[in-house]
Amino acid sequence: MTQDSAEITAPDDGMSGEAVASRKVFIKTYGCQMNVYDSSRMSDALAAEGYTPTDSADDADLVLLNTCHIREKASEKVFSALGRLRDLKRSRNAEGREFMIGVAGCVAQAEGEEIARREPSVDVVIGPQTYHRLPAALHQARAGKRVVDTEYAVEDKFEHLPQIAKAKGSARSVTAFLTVQEGCDKFCTFCVVPYTRGSEVSRPLSQIVKEAERLVSEGVRELTLLGQNVNAWTGTGARGEQIGLAQLLHRLADIPGLARLRYTTSHPRDMDDGLIAAHRDLRMLMPYLHLPIQSGSDRILKAMNRRHKADEYVALIERVRAARPDIALSGDFIVGFPGETDADFEATLQLVRDVGYAQAYSFKYSERPGTPGAELADQVADAVKTERLARLQELLLTQQRQFAEDCVGRVTDILLEKPGRNPGQLIGRSPWLQSVNVDAKKSQIGDIINVRITGTGPNSLFAEMA
Ligand code: 5AD
Ligand code: SF4
Repeated sequence: MTQDSAEITAPDDGMSGEAVASRKVFIKTYGCQMNVYDSSRMSDALAAEGYTPTDSADDADLVLLNTCHIREKASEKVFSALGRLRDLKRSRNAEGREFMIGVAGCVAQAEGEEIARREPSVDVVIGPQTYHRLPAALHQARAGKRVVDTEYAVEDKFEHLPQIAKAKGSARSVTAFLTVQEGCDKFCTFCVVPYTRGSEVSRPLSQIVKEAERLVSEGVRELTLLGQNVNAWTGTGARGEQIGLAQLLHRLADIPGLARLRYTTSHPRDMDDGLIAAHRDLRMLMPYLHLPIQSGSDRILKAMNRRHKADEYVALIERVRAARPDIALSGDFIVGFPGETDADFEATLQLVRDVGYAQAYSFKYSERPGTPGAELADQVADAVKTERLARLQELLLTQQRQFAEDCVGRVTDILLEKPGRNPGQLIGRSPWLQSVNVDAKKSQIGDIINVRITGTGPNSLFAEMA
């Protein structure tokens, strides 16, 4: 998962049924796309309570931090943000105004009691499985009873969250996330996800189809299905048979008006034949696959409990490429896992050279309390991690630039997504998830047009109508 600190201001739907005071909420989202999705659902839940979104804490009545616990730095950010909010709350209260602070997401789940102890200014701590109880928790907090709710709810939060808000005035974005699966049973020894998000749960087919249809009816043309282990999704088909992600993608592809599908993030062990075939058969499925391996060394993969070898991963990639030759690959890497030697690290570099990535995310190993990796004896010195990360990132950046360069001259479809920097320009999305600048009219947003890629910029491509 990739996004660092995206700020969310989901649209207000004006669907509040009761007469409620008008309040403003600022939701700050850290971490992955699943948090981005969760933030928009919390925004929907709060809209029903009369909250409208704002993009700054300064004019908010409620600030909600939707947090990430994946690496140490991510959680540290939360505590320093809470320090600043505490001061803001003090000055607001001195003016006699309400100012509430909520902590949601994976830090809330993992350190709920600790947050409550360290930060008395926090009104509500709510874990990722109980967002539907957020309005009730705010009512309780307003009545003077601070809430820490990090249970794994028995009821289905998706069923209890209000419908996705429809944008007022302007249409919603033409691309959207849709969470279809949560949690993880893989227990990689470095990772907190199985502890913060719980075990693998798939949303039922009918619920997903209903939500997808609603999004498409509001103008969404490209859907990205989300899950911590999205390719472990499983459901029940029309005849009562067990189905997997491939069949889900085929079912969603039938929705009239939907043009593109993506999914993220996947585990190599769950990449089955049906899913590989879907990359061949389903033109709507975009040729981009985020398939993390983490390390190129079998010894380290074993210590990480990844349950596959490097050459098995490479063979899998070859099968995917045979099915869809133009597929772009993306991955995640960790350097400095306990016990990683120079030779292990060289194996990672070699794997990157062998595979060739269009995009990748790489991190220094971060010791997470409660995970088996944190207990291992031979932790790697930070200076070594820093040096390895720099070398790996240099290689990955070279590959990323090469991939962009190779696109120049290609003719391809792009989905026009939003206004560009200059008037008369729009930003489109290529099949390979790149931003593409092109001259086009605002009224064309949502259209898919055929362009020729003419050049590359630092983080985007340039194109002209083909
Ligand atoms: N340290 C460093 N990186 C981590 N990731 C997960 N846990 C850790 C950790 N403890 C990375 C992995 C994963 C991505 C989401 O974050 O590469 O695929
Ligand atoms: Fe974490 Fe491994 Fe599960 Fe991915 S597969 S969420 S890295 S435990």
